[in-house]
Amino acid sequence: MSELILGKTVSESIYSELRVRIEALKSKGTTPGLAVVLVGTDPASEVYVRMKGKKCEELGMHSVTVVMPENTSEADLLKKVSELNKDSSIHGFLVQLPLPSHIDEKKVINAIDPKKDVDCFHPVNVGKMLIGEPDFLPATPAGVQQMLVRSGVDTKGKHVVVVGRSNIVGKPMMAMMVQKGDGADSTVTVVHSRTKDLPSITRQADILIVAIGKANFITADMVKKGVVVIDVGTNRIEDPSSPKGTKLVGDVEFEGVKNKASKITPVPGGVGPMTICMLMANTVAAAEKANVSR
Ligand code: GUN
Repeated sequence: MSELILGKTVSESIYSELRVRIEALKSKGTTPGLAVVLVGTDPASEVYVRMKGKKCEELGMHSVTVVMPENTSEADLLKKVSELNKDSSIHGFLVQLPLPSHIDEKKVINAIDPKKDVDCFHPVNVGKMLIGEPDFLPATPAGVQQMLVRSGVDTKGKHVVVVGRSNIVGKPMMAMMVQKGDGADSTVTVVHSRTKDLPSITRQADILIVAIGKANFITADMVKKGVVVIDVGTNRIEDPSSPKGTKLVGDVEFEGVKNKASKITPVPGGVGPMTICMLMANTVAAAEKANVSR
């Protein structure tokens, strides 16, 4: 039986370190501030935005939630971004995605001051990360890396196979694991929907990071014994046996794969809690940098 890597446990240890840094900032007169902009009423986005605000409050950070109606114009959203860029009480902010289809997401992301881009979605921050000089790391891949490091997984020289090539997880994960240094120094392969004979490659993984957005995609026959498996997927599937009629599963067929893995993350309870945790870490880091440059 494999060892579980739990996001709750890993995030709690990071939160206790963040609390110390937040107190240090406050004693110097700076309260780290995060703003989250939500356009419209997408139910999943509403939940995420509420969770981000709640976590800020728990940590004693300054939190602003800006809710704008579904029919907000692109110009009005860009005006709000510009206001937040100038607001010295806000050290980091993000515009929750997806945006309504009449708004160009790229234009909005490009308008965010890279120094406040705690999502690490701005091309300047993506480029800095790629060359190994990051100001921020994107929250979900950074959370995955922390789970590996803090559960004692040696990544140096190991074959990391990333399944999925999204801009939010797969591509930045690849860029982070190939860098020089602790928690990285890996040999990285990225596989995706167009890869030929994908199982022959996933079977070579020492560490398998899966973010392809397909329920139970990775099965036991696709991994080698002793592999470390990080499942970034969250898929809601039908489950007649549950009261709601649905359940959350990852991109990994957990019951089969756990018998071969040395360590594995469950869904839910695995990577999930790490994303908000790393967003908070980025906000604290942004406040520390702003405090130094004052
Ligand atoms: N929508 C789903 N996840 C995210 C995220 O990490 N950041 C933003 N801005 N929108 C999201």
